[in-house]
Amino acid sequence: MPQFQTSPGMRDILPPDADRWRRFVAAFADVAAAAGYAALATPLMEDAGVFAGVGEATDIVQKEMYRFTDNGGRDVALRPEFTAGVCRSFAQQRPVTPWKVWLAGSNFRYEKPQRGRYRQFDQIDLEVLGSDDPFVDAEVVAVGWRFFQQLGLQQVTLLINSLGEPAERAAFNDALRDYFTANIDALSEDSRATLARNPLRVLDSKRREDAPVIAGAPTIADFYGEESAAHFASVLAGLDRLGIPYTVSPRLVRGLDYYVRTTFEFAGGTLDSAQNALGGGGRYDGLVEALGGPATPGIGFAIGVDRTLIACDDEGVFPADPLELDVFVVDTTGGLEALAISEELRAAGLRVDRAFDNRSMKSQMKAADRSGARFAVIVGSDELAAGTAVVRPMRDGGDQSVVARADLAAALQS
Ligand code: HAM
Repeated sequence: MPQFQTSPGMRDILPPDADRWRRFVAAFADVAAAAGYAALATPLMEDAGVFAGVGEATDIVQKEMYRFTDNGGRDVALRPEFTAGVCRSFAQQRPVTPWKVWLAGSNFRYEKPQRGRYRQFDQIDLEVLGSDDPFVDAEVVAVGWRFFQQLGLQQVTLLINSLGEPAERAAFNDALRDYFTANIDALSEDSRATLARNPLRVLDSKRREDAPVIAGAPTIADFYGEESAAHFASVLAGLDRLGIPYTVSPRLVRGLDYYVRTTFEFAGGTLDSAQNALGGGGRYDGLVEALGGPATPGIGFAIGVDRTLIACDDEGVFPADPLELDVFVVDTTGGLEALAISEELRAAGLRVDRAFDNRSMKSQMKAADRSGARFAVIVGSDELAAGTAVVRPMRDGGDQSVVARADLAAALQS
């Protein structure tokens, strides 16, 4: 028989971890709803062209997309991120603006798997379309920041930059190309290849030999026009007013090409530097238009669920809790009573499990113990005949009692 394993970079999320994932998303849903963001769900797969806006020159589009021809001959791809799909949705549905939405789910990138970097990974994502008010930027960052605070993460830092307007960004890109070309001998081989495709991304190199060249490179701030400088200043004033600590990081460029003006990253304190970005985002004011919609500004961020949970483990916060049961039913009369009692108690709102396979009393009591339930409800032939059950506290001590079957739910609820 063939033995199957998960594909590289894809994992089973087992109990109790999978429950923690659900709680993580639920916690984010609360934070997002508190700020007026509604849940949105877009398809896992889109026309591959939707993701062209992420950047034809990026690794994500060039090398990492799960792209294939479907049975109808369509060129499709699994989403490598949410933002392009959200903009496609906006262009298609034309909702009222500002459109404030959040999403959660899996994304796919064919990357080299390692701790904190997977081929299937989950993100929670938040987007605002239809306003370029700098205080939208501040609100978006604040929602992300508050979520990390709520998880209990102490070591997250916020890095922020502005990439300027498209024309300013383009001038900066040209200046970088000239500068790095003049210093090409000092660059790593990887960075030389990056330079040919996208000079901005050279700034993102983590290779030690590139550091001195990068340190002397032009910075974007020299290219800001009046408007983008004022916009960025207002974003920072908003963060100051909220007391959110940040570091302006003029070398912060992100791995996606659609960004203009505000960009930011939430860095964790415990992972390797190549995987320490727990989340990131920024403005993508031209993306809806590039997807055939009306000119619409947009900003948002995504937080990596996998990575942020690693950071939670490292910092000892937001733990995975085993399933908490109220009651474990033990039935030595064949199992039919356990079936009935379990459903009755579940209908009354209790969390109930039971043993199967008509095991011995001893084996069922062991299972009750292992389950961690607060009470065991025990039915033997005497109880069955008398229409009663024994209720035994399993965790908090105290005496067991005999309860009439009709009163069982009420007794356990109190
Ligand atoms: P991103 O920086 O590509 O941005 O991804 C955001 C986060 O997703 C990263 O900080 C990281 O935590 C997680 N992530 C990315 N790739 C992987 C991977 N291979 N394995 C595990 N985690 C990963 C975006 O995706 C943009 N769409 C964010 C955005 C929203 N910008 C505006 N709106």
